[in-house]
Amino acid sequence: MSSKYKELFVFGEDYGTSDYKFGPASLGNVPDMFENRGYLPDMGSVIARMQGFGEGTPIVVGPEVSTYLEARGDLAERLIYPMRESTIEEGDERAWSVVKEVTRFGLSRYAPLNNEAFKGFYGVASIVAGAPKYMYERLFKIHEEINTESQKGPLVKAVTIIPQPLAVAIAQKAVTCTVIESGHGNTQVTPISRQVIQHALIPLNRGGNDANMITQQILRDAGFGEFAKERRLVRMFKEAVGLIPGDLNSAIDEAKRDPDRFRAAFRVPGTRITIDLKENSWQRFLIGEYLFNPSHEVFQSYYKRGFLKPSDTHVGREVILGTTDLADAIATSIERCSIEVQPYLFKNILLSGGNFAWKVPSGLEGVAVDAATKLTRLLQARGISDATVRLVKNPQYSVWQGCIVYGMYVPEAFKWDWARLEGWHALDGQ
Ligand SMILES: Nc1ncnc2c1ncn2[C@@H]1O[C@H](COP(=O)(O)OP(=O)(O)OP(=O)(O)O)[C@@H](O)[C@H]1O
Ligand SMILES: [Mg+2]
Repeated sequence: MSSKYKELFVFGEDYGTSDYKFGPASLGNVPDMFENRGYLPDMGSVIARMQGFGEGTPIVVGPEVSTYLEARGDLAERLIYPMRESTIEEGDERAWSVVKEVTRFGLSRYAPLNNEAFKGFYGVASIVAGAPKYMYERLFKIHEEINTESQKGPLVKAVTIIPQPLAVAIAQKAVTCTVIESGHGNTQVTPISRQVIQHALIPLNRGGNDANMITQQILRDAGFGEFAKERRLVRMFKEAVGLIPGDLNSAIDEAKRDPDRFRAAFRVPGTRITIDLKENSWQRFLIGEYLFNPSHEVFQSYYKRGFLKPSDTHVGREVILGTTDLADAIATSIERCSIEVQPYLFKNILLSGGNFAWKVPSGLEGVAVDAATKLTRLLQARGISDATVRLVKNPQYSVWQGCIVYGMYVPEAFKWDWARLEGWHALDGQ
């Protein structure tokens, strides 16, 4: 098979805690995506029967899921988010079934089944760096099963799996760099020198979900308890009003002095509901700060009231506190690498992932900053003054972009190697 074939049919699959980003190279720079979740319809209902849910299709995935979310008590049981902190539990069969349906949906959407030349995609799946081996095995297995079960010929010809931060480095054509990949579930602090420097990797259990948690608490405190129960709305509110402060204390002072300028009011699209924090609008700065520095004293009162801190990470025998300042985590990680390479790693810090996509509204520049500016300041405060921090373009899509580039470069003949975790895993019968 010519390499032209592979170029045409490389298919990126970025498995995120909140969003599955997927699609073939022909999509350009922006993948298709939907929430990584599945809904188990009530099979007893007449409507489910009318919709054709007989045996065989018990899980709904994709954009359609929204239409099933009527107010109901058993939603938590029926709506499955398969990933927690960017991993899937080994024995969580329901979660794996959702991941399988999500994958099948993604591949089927783009498979040109009426094209005779199509013999299946070259799938490039991306998961967290340092993922347990069973995640690799299960992903291979899922792809195999999807092929076997396909009525219209194989959807996948071969699969490979790449750690997300490495995909980012590849998309940015960076050979030696430190990738900080921060999505919904976690933040991977990852020094890279051609490969992930495994012993220096620090996965923090902190991501967009934690920003949602603090947002939810702020909403409850402001009397919007009902609204705070709806996960998706909390996320919309967070993205619309959350800000990263250049310096938290002075941002709070300024916002309290001039509340109108910093007013956090959000109109829920398509409804008559407006959530207005009014005199508490200064709290919008807490949302951004929390991601960078949850050990700031301002959060102590939250912890005292029972608000859960981000959980600690165990790396080998070491424990990294969940509340570790992001700049400290970066310094600790880079300082585990050889002294000679350290300056290169500090000089090329790349931020990627949706959780770094914070905007700075016009008129608030300086008081509110972007993620790269915040981190540069935090590093400076720790005596690291010559670091270069850059937010990649389209941070939420850079992993998927890297999957495509990687898939183009790995030669077809290069077989999967369990020792190196590289190469193509050819599927049976292909
Ligand atoms: N403009 C924005 N401002 C603030 N947060 C944002 C913005 N855009 C996206 N996010 C947040 O980024 C997160 C999603 O990012 P991403 O798609 O990279 O995560 P993921 O891949 O699903 O999760 P993970 O990689 O941790 O498993 C969500 O928490 C979302 O609210
Ligand atoms: Mg991700």
